[in-house]
Amino acid sequence: MGKQRIVLLYGGKSAEHSISCISAACVLSALDNHRFEAVPIGITKSGDWLVGGTDPRDFDLAGQPLPSVRSGNGAHRVALEFGRGGDGFFAVDSGSDPAADSVSQQRFQQGPYLNSVPASRGALYSLGHIDAVLPVLHGPFGEDGTVQGLLDLLGVPYVGCGVFASSACMDKHFTKILLKAAGIPVTPSITIDTRQVHETGETCTSQQGSLFETAAVEYLARVRRAGLRYPLFVKPSRAGSSFGVCKVGHEGDAAELGAAVREAAKYDWKVLIEQGMSGREIECAVLAPHIDGKPKASWPGEIVLDRRSPGNDQFYDFDSKYLDSGASHAQIPADLPEATLRHVQEISIKAFEAIDGAGLSRVDTFVGSDGSIVVNEINSIPGFTPISMYPKAWEASGLDYGELVTALIESALGIGR
Ligand SMILES: Nc1ncnc2c1ncn2[C@@H]1O[C@H](COP(=O)(O)OP(=O)(O)O)[C@@H](O)[C@H]1O
Ligand SMILES: [Mg+2]
Repeated sequence: MGKQRIVLLYGGKSAEHSISCISAACVLSALDNHRFEAVPIGITKSGDWLVGGTDPRDFDLAGQPLPSVRSGNGAHRVALEFGRGGDGFFAVDSGSDPAADSVSQQRFQQGPYLNSVPASRGALYSLGHIDAVLPVLHGPFGEDGTVQGLLDLLGVPYVGCGVFASSACMDKHFTKILLKAAGIPVTPSITIDTRQVHETGETCTSQQGSLFETAAVEYLARVRRAGLRYPLFVKPSRAGSSFGVCKVGHEGDAAELGAAVREAAKYDWKVLIEQGMSGREIECAVLAPHIDGKPKASWPGEIVLDRRSPGNDQFYDFDSKYLDSGASHAQIPADLPEATLRHVQEISIKAFEAIDGAGLSRVDTFVGSDGSIVVNEINSIPGFTPISMYPKAWEASGLDYGELVTALIESALGIGR
């Protein structure tokens, strides 16, 4: 049997573009080359799909600037043709222009819906048959159901959650609604719509700042009515990697809350104000390698911060999460009683099922000193860098990085173990 050809989709339009590039480089290096042939397709920050060009394995992962998908270096745009399933992927050769030849010009100008100017900008070359897609994309336009919907329309199997679960996990407001309905405890919060503030705000930033402060008086009243205890955490409903997440420590301070909401609103008009949880952050990797089988949970792990910059009362922020491997380490299993670890696994599987998960997800929880567990969020395409919790948690649970990638691809191909 020939090798199965897997498109690895990486990069993307979200703020987590570079993390995705690093994850892609690691996945490619770990891919079982005896069974699979990778076809990397990078998505630029502006949304162009490119094939060829720089191989992610050649990215400088330690250097600055962080890796990104760029045109040039032999990269070709990708064109998709619907209704052809795995045969619908093409590279565009912009050097040749079939529309320029007169026969095709006449053909292009016929049909009633066609523009009189040929839109084609090059010849299409098939990328060959694609058996499955492995999206390693984080955040909006990748992890949120949009790419999953596109792949459904194309008719190509892919790794991970489908449209519904992906969008449900991307939107923290709706994740909570689903989890609560399934009886799973979540962090108490209120959701606010900041579009009003944006609409009335002028472009002048100081004026907009004061508008957020004025609006925050109303938010403070809602926080009080909901009985949320301080500190509060303010965050965009649809973002990730701690972008736009702020801690608010001073009770009743409208300026502080207004500034936090304004920061979160840079990423999403829908903003959550949550009660701060004092518990430890415990993350559990869920894998559903078998299409009809029960999802499995890894040993839950904990990111232990080893170093904070002086005076930095920050939580688990972007740098400590992704960039600074000396800032933290993953402790797997987390240093908790076995019964609590088992409970985290049970809740994580229940949460995965509640959102109709498929393939994989990382369920993030807060575990209190009394052993109580609340789910903070679910990441349907968690990080896959060497210091990422998802692959590390599976490694500590007996599945190494390469085996994990194989299991995920098999889940999309319907092979499953
Ligand atoms: N309610 C909360 N209580 C305590 N810490 C929180 C709370 N919400 C967020 N945090 C901190 O902020 C980090 C990022 O928030 P999170 O909700 O996980 O958003 P993201 O999708 O950006 O990862 C968490 O890992 C945690 O350290
Ligand atoms: Mg998180």
